[in-house]
Amino acid sequence: KFMQIKKVSCFGAGYVGGPTMAVMASKCPEQTFIVYDINEQQIQRWNSKQYPVYEEGLDEYVSKTINKNLIFTSDIDLALKDCDIVFLAVNTPSKSYGLGAESQLDISYIDSCLQSIKKYPLTKKLILVEKSTVPIKTCDYINAVLKNQNICVLSNPEFLAEGTAIQDLLSPDRVIIGGPLESSKQLASLYEEWVHKDKIIFTNIYSAELSKIVANSFLAQRVSSINSISIICDKIGADVNEISRSVGSDSRIGNKFLKTSVGFGGSCLKKDLLCLIYLCESLQLDEVAQYWRSVYLLNEYQKQRFINLIISSMFNCLRNKVIVILGLTFKAKTNDTRESAALLIIKKLQEEQAILRIYDPQGKIDKLEQCQSLDGIFEGASAVVILTEWEEFTKIDYVEAYNQMAKPAYCFDGRNLLQSDLMKSIGFLYYGLGRV
Ligand code: UDX
Ligand code: UDX
Ligand code: ADP
Repeated sequence: KFMQIKKVSCFGAGYVGGPTMAVMASKCPEQTFIVYDINEQQIQRWNSKQYPVYEEGLDEYVSKTINKNLIFTSDIDLALKDCDIVFLAVNTPSKSYGLGAESQLDISYIDSCLQSIKKYPLTKKLILVEKSTVPIKTCDYINAVLKNQNICVLSNPEFLAEGTAIQDLLSPDRVIIGGPLESSKQLASLYEEWVHKDKIIFTNIYSAELSKIVANSFLAQRVSSINSISIICDKIGADVNEISRSVGSDSRIGNKFLKTSVGFGGSCLKKDLLCLIYLCESLQLDEVAQYWRSVYLLNEYQKQRFINLIISSMFNCLRNKVIVILGLTFKAKTNDTRESAALLIIKKLQEEQAILRIYDPQGKIDKLEQCQSLDGIFEGASAVVILTEWEEFTKIDYVEAYNQMAKPAYCFDGRNLLQSDLMKSIGFLYYGLGRV
């Protein structure tokens, strides 16, 4: 039924590769899935249940397939021998050097995969699938590097969001497959084991590559749009939550991604937005580049504005004051702190010489001292700053917390997570975003 597809490999056992292959393996029991990573430690973690990724439901999918038709390995021969499909799910961070530094994506990890594949004597046709976000036309580069080899390049971007990865994989809004039709159909046959045919969209390969960065740029744009409105609300006494509800109930607009926040974070939104801006600039489309850059700049402004709010509300006097930071991750239900607004805010509060007590139920940052629980965390503190919308933070007894804190007791809620009236009635000097 799957034509000749028997063996599928994935380069990169990270946030994308691990969960994606685990779900695929469980839905396609007749195929073997090999997840390969150059980092042996990463492989060991998957093999010893100390997953490098925290996702609800992940354990179930790994447990039922691992060492049956799902294998995590750092043996490249095992990954490439008689393989039909290779997914490229290695990291593609923003370039940190040279031309396009900070904007263009760095495909050197993709490149090192290609060099490995190039050295390997392929015995049959190989379908090579771009899964990670890549700059537009990376497919041309892959074809150039692997010229004369029996390969076909497809783009099949991953849209899973952290925290809901398993759910997103089980019922994706769509599956995009770009590239030559015959190979695209072969890849689609795997997805058709659990995704309805109507949700599988075949496109040309450049459209598929572009659709990923556009989707993430649109998401970023929505967050910046609502954040810009929260700033207006602050000035005029309107409530941004009410605006989100009113505007979002227009079915043409839709109600998702309209939650105001201290700024979007994560490894993808900013990176893909900057990649789009770089693309526009390299095509000399200055007006278009400027449009998208404003989305990025507003996000930076939103973070800085929140920092200024804390510092100015506390009369510019944070030195030696204890500040409780609740949340490090860029959103709830993940252990990922990449590009989290918390990183900048913590740095700025440290510069003010405040004493920080930091707690996050999942997120850990090297070299940053963190509290292991909420026990005693409010004792003598001057302020509590909420940076991630963990449900746990809504369950705190804020009356008790208030009683333990120094007065005046401030609360800066960067997620509009708590009820403003309630917090004020307890006695907190409560500041949310765009609300009275
Ligand atoms: C708009 C609002 O939709 C409506 O809710 C409000 O009450 C009045 O303003 P209208 O101006 O009649 O309604 O037209 P609308 O359908 O919103 O289209 C506005 C313009 O956008 C048109 O020129 C339309 O061609 C253009 N448009 C719309 C696009 O270019 N692309 C689209 O995807 C949608
Ligand atoms: C994103 C895309 O959603 C996903 O499809 C893609 O594959 C990878 O990038 P992710 O980065 O995991 O996923 O998180 P996402 O849910 O998009 O949130 C990104 C940031 O926006 C978070 O910091 C989140 O807190 C923030 N956000 C989101 C808001 O501030 N308000 C919202 O309404 C939604
Ligand atoms: P993503 O969020 O895109 O999944 P991660 O950083 O979580 O990115 O995971 C990417 C993984 O790819 C890392 O575990 C890294 O070790 C791995 N990797 C990087 N380069 C290679 C390579 N040449 N071959 C195999 N794996 C690689």
